Amino acid sequence: DRGNKVICVDKNPNVVDLLNNGKIHIYEPGLEELVEKNTKEGRLKFTGDIISAVENSDIIFLGVNTPSDKDGSFNLEYLFQAAKDVGKALQKASGYKIVVGKSTVPQGTFKLITEIINSEIGNNPNLKWDYVSNPETLAEGTAVRDFAKPDRIIIGTKSDRAFEVMEDLYHPFNITNDRVIRGSPTDAELAKLMSNTALATRVAMVNEFARIADVTEDADMNTIRIMVCEDQRIGYKFMFPSPGYGGSCFPKDIQGIVEQSKKDGYNPLLLNSIHKSNELHKEYLGKRIAKILSKIKNPKIGILGITFKPNTDDMRDAASVPIINKLLDIGAKISVYDPKDEKAREIFANKIQFMDNQNDVAKDADALILMTEWKIFDSQDFEKLKSDMKGNYIFDLRNRWLANKVNEKGFNYYGVGRNYELKK
Ligand code: UDX
Repeated sequence: DRGNKVICVDKNPNVVDLLNNGKIHIYEPGLEELVEKNTKEGRLKFTGDIISAVENSDIIFLGVNTPSDKDGSFNLEYLFQAAKDVGKALQKASGYKIVVGKSTVPQGTFKLITEIINSEIGNNPNLKWDYVSNPETLAEGTAVRDFAKPDRIIIGTKSDRAFEVMEDLYHPFNITNDRVIRGSPTDAELAKLMSNTALATRVAMVNEFARIADVTEDADMNTIRIMVCEDQRIGYKFMFPSPGYGGSCFPKDIQGIVEQSKKDGYNPLLLNSIHKSNELHKEYLGKRIAKILSKIKNPKIGILGITFKPNTDDMRDAASVPIINKLLDIGAKISVYDPKDEKAREIFANKIQFMDNQNDVAKDADALILMTEWKIFDSQDFEKLKSDMKGNYIFDLRNRWLANKVNEKGFNYYGVGRNYELKK
């Protein structure tokens, strides 16, 4: 979208076909328009042919996924295969090329990728190449905006020549003020992991306080949050209690950094407990809702939102999954509305009912759960909800609603660390 020519390569022919037909297999606001426009104007191409893509490019980004292995460490199988394929494609290439690591990887991976590529290239006197670590810093749902307006552009490389090319490439996103930060490839790898750890730690910490608030008389986590976040050193971001963090990054990255550090000879104390704390939180909320509803046989539960956060269809590590499974275990009948429920439908198939309208989930329900804070759920007519529902339980797992007002309308309101029960 800034005038470069981009060729995207994927091994999966279905994905390539879809993209060539202007369709995207994920939901990301603004992405489809961007792909359509740049394809039409001839700057963007999708192909399975890695050799010609590499030969015809100056800069080659590796952006394949690095999922978790069973023990929590990063699975680098796909990345190494991609590095091999790029190395092979570079055997006959000529001139100067840069290979850029975009995928999130454990510290030290750049060395392994460099070795793999070099051993594939063998002897090619016509080629000079350098490696750059340039981790992505995009959040799902705001990825297009995050890319166009980055807070920082991290470039990890030992090569001055490669650094200059990368600076030029990012110049259109760096005009207002200089946001490029240079370090070694390892600095860049670790900065990415520490950024996600810092945010996930805040969420896990806030959720622990919410669990403390639940066992403390007269505590409202929302008031406490504001009292704390007004301290300018702390601020409001990533301080919202929730059903637990999910998504494709936090859960995987925190386990991955711990496992790699252990392999390298340091067992981090604090980082070791963040993932466990988050897992416990999801379990805790599932059990808590089940316990509060335990007097109702086969409770009918309506759920608003199921994706791991709003403005995405992504269900990876979504907190909704263990919570819904726990409620299914107690025999609950569940109906859900989510504006982007395609992937959730694949996971739950006919175990829960998917509605096309948010008003339908409350009908005759004993309890209503706000799971994901899509904006469309912010304003509710609680009087109407009260007459639509059979029961009077509200679980606001994002602390979005005005607890005392909901309570005044005749509901038992349970947020995360804030409880307003009806007077007996
Ligand atoms: C994250 C990082 O933000 C991004 O910079 C990185 O490149 C990839 O990982 P993403 O996984 O898309 O992005 O989502 P993010 O908005 O960070 O939220 C992660 C999880 O934390 C979500 O489940 C969200 O609901 C939860 N969260 C976030 C909270 O529970 N409370 C908060 O206050 C903020």
